[in-house]
Amino acid sequence: MKRIKLELAPGVETEFVDRDRALAQVEEWAEKSTRWPVVIFGPEGCGKSAFLRQAAAVLRDLGYDVVYVDPLHRFFTAHTDVDEIARKLADAASEAFGIAQLKLATLAIDAIKELLDRWGRRRVAILVDEAFQAVGLDKAGIYVKSLLNLIEYPPRSYDGMVAVVATSEGLTRGEIGRHRWAELTPMWNMPREGLHQLYERIPGPKPPFEDVWRWTGGNPEMLARLYKAGWDVEEVVLHLMQNKKLSAEFVRRWGRWLVEAVEDPEALWAGDVPEELVRELEARNLVVYNMYDRRPSFWVDRPPPERDLELGIGKHVAWQTPIHREAVRRALRET
Ligand SMILES: Nc1ncnc2c1ncn2[C@@H]1O[C@H](COP(=O)(O)OP(=O)(O)OP(=O)(O)O)[C@@H](O)[C@H]1O
Ligand SMILES: [Mg+2]
Repeated sequence: MKRIKLELAPGVETEFVDRDRALAQVEEWAEKSTRWPVVIFGPEGCGKSAFLRQAAAVLRDLGYDVVYVDPLHRFFTAHTDVDEIARKLADAASEAFGIAQLKLATLAIDAIKELLDRWGRRRVAILVDEAFQAVGLDKAGIYVKSLLNLIEYPPRSYDGMVAVVATSEGLTRGEIGRHRWAELTPMWNMPREGLHQLYERIPGPKPPFEDVWRWTGGNPEMLARLYKAGWDVEEVVLHLMQNKKLSAEFVRRWGRWLVEAVEDPEALWAGDVPEELVRELEARNLVVYNMYDRRPSFWVDRPPPERDLELGIGKHVAWQTPIHREAVRRALRET
């Protein structure tokens, strides 16, 4: 299998590494088709987009016509010899900003219909990255429903259909989970060996891998940020603190619970934790709340451990990375 090329940080090229189980799952989807649209969620920067792009290449090699769109970044790839499809996607991508995003998301579905109906393709795949930010959170459910319609009522019968969506938007889970239209599937940060392979690609002097593992918890985006910050952990933490708007007001309001949660995220699972706090932490992508059962069939790639307090992982709640936790800890200390 050909591994796609990716850029971890400016000047740091790598091919797609690790994630062997996830790639085996793609082959399974190709063989059996996805019964429901697979909606992948997980920590920001854990590698969802990289995985979708690699999946597109795998599916192409398995004889699929593949449409991959990343509406938010107005990016797409069409693995098909039907030029018209690629042309339409390119036209949509070049439209004015807001319009392009919505258009790409809907056009991807139309393209699959056309490939089946007009071009007689028998094996088609649609992969949509961050669809919900493009169509709007309130329409996430409807978007997934139209993917389900594609699977269940295609314009023409098919031999294979794969529909996968990725989102880093914590709140969409509520919207989608209410219906039985999708298979909500979490994906975690990279396993140790995977992160190690990426660590090895990074040039120059670097801290011991053990430290990098403990800071990133296997998150490749955090690895890149640390590298770009010259391995200055504090700088990365302070940036995150700003990005997440961890203001004195926020900390004063929720400090009582946050103090416990930085020690053990499972504290957020207790009955008396305000729902509003949980929503805030999810909306800011600080924690993953209501982690699934760890049986591998519920996950893309390998599930994280049941509990690893050093990395901030609890049975039901986990900090997205140890650096996310550190940003909250820092905000608590400064207030
Ligand atoms: N398996 C992998 N092999 C090599 N590089 C990877 C892998 N997974 C992720 N990366 C790199 O790590 C960085 C973060 O990954 P990516 O953008 O895919 O995460 P994401 O989950 O889509 O993030 P976001 O939540 O921001 O959308 C990127 O530079 C990507 O190229
Ligand atoms: Mg992404």
